[in-house]
Amino acid sequence: MSLTLVPSPAELVAWYADMGITEALDETTHDHFAAPEPASEPSRPRPTLPPRAGQGPAAEARPNAAAATAPEDAALSARVLAREAATLEALKEALARFEGCALKATAKNLVFADGNPQARVMIVGEAPGGDEDRVGLPFVGRSGQLLDRMLGAIGLDRKTDVYIANLLPWRPPGNRTPTPQEVAICLPFIQRQIALANPDILVCVGGPAAQGLLGLTGILASRGKWSEYDTGTRRIRALATLHPAYLLRQPLQKRLAWRDMRTLKAALDALGAPEPAPTARVD
Ligand code: URA
Repeated sequence: MSLTLVPSPAELVAWYADMGITEALDETTHDHFAAPEPASEPSRPRPTLPPRAGQGPAAEARPNAAAATAPEDAALSARVLAREAATLEALKEALARFEGCALKATAKNLVFADGNPQARVMIVGEAPGGDEDRVGLPFVGRSGQLLDRMLGAIGLDRKTDVYIANLLPWRPPGNRTPTPQEVAICLPFIQRQIALANPDILVCVGGPAAQGLLGLTGILASRGKWSEYDTGTRRIRALATLHPAYLLRQPLQKRLAWRDMRTLKAALDALGAPEPAPTARVD
C-alpha cells in the first residue's frame, strides 16, 4: 500500500518559494473550475518569457552585456575593477557597473552586504535567494533568520558583530547552484570585499563558499575545522560551517552547526576585547 502525503497549501507555497517561483506568471484571475474553452476560440495570449540574459533589446543596447563577454574577459575585467576599488563603497559601485556576469540580467537587485564592515567576523554565504533579491540585503529570508539565531546563540548580533556578504552578489534564477563559471567571474569581487573589510575571522557558510574561498570540498567533512585565508595583506583564520538552508531541511544537523558556533566563539574569546576605536584627543 502506498502512502500519499498531500502537502498543505502553506507547504506548497513554501516549496514554490524555495524553488524560486515567487511571482505569479499572469496578472489575470482565472477560474480554474470553469468549463474548458472550446478549441475553436482563439487562445488567450500567453505570458511571454523575459528575454534570456544577453538577448533582447536591453542586451543589444549594451555591447558589453554578459553574453557578449567571453568568460575569461569577464573574469579579467572583474579582477581589474575589484583591484581598483579602494573602499567598500567603491567596490559596490564597481559591481553595480559590471556587466560581465549574466546573473545580473535576471536579478532584481545587487545584494552587496549587511552588518558592520568593521566587525571581527565576516560571514560569506552562497548567493542571494528570492527574499534577498527583493530586499537587496543578504540573509534576510528563512535561512537568514536561522543564521541570526545561530549567531545570537553565541552572543553575536548581525548588525553590529558581523559583516555579511555572499560569494555571488546576484540571485541565480530559481535559486539554482551557481555555475563554476559564475563563481570564477565574481570571485575577485568577494575576495576584494574580504580584503577591504579586513576581518580577523572568515566564516564560510555552505559548500560553495567553502570551496570558492577556502578550496575545501565536502562541507560535511571540512566544516568545523580551522583553515587559513590569505587576504592579500595577511593570513586570517577561516572556518566553514553548514548552510542554514541545509539545516532547515535537515534539522538534526543543527547539532554540528552548534559545535561550529562554539568553535567560533572560543576563537573570538581568545582574541580578547577589540581595541577601542581611536578617539580625538582633547588636551
Ligand atoms: N543563502 C545564501 O547563501 N545567502 C543569502 O543571502 C541567502 C540565502
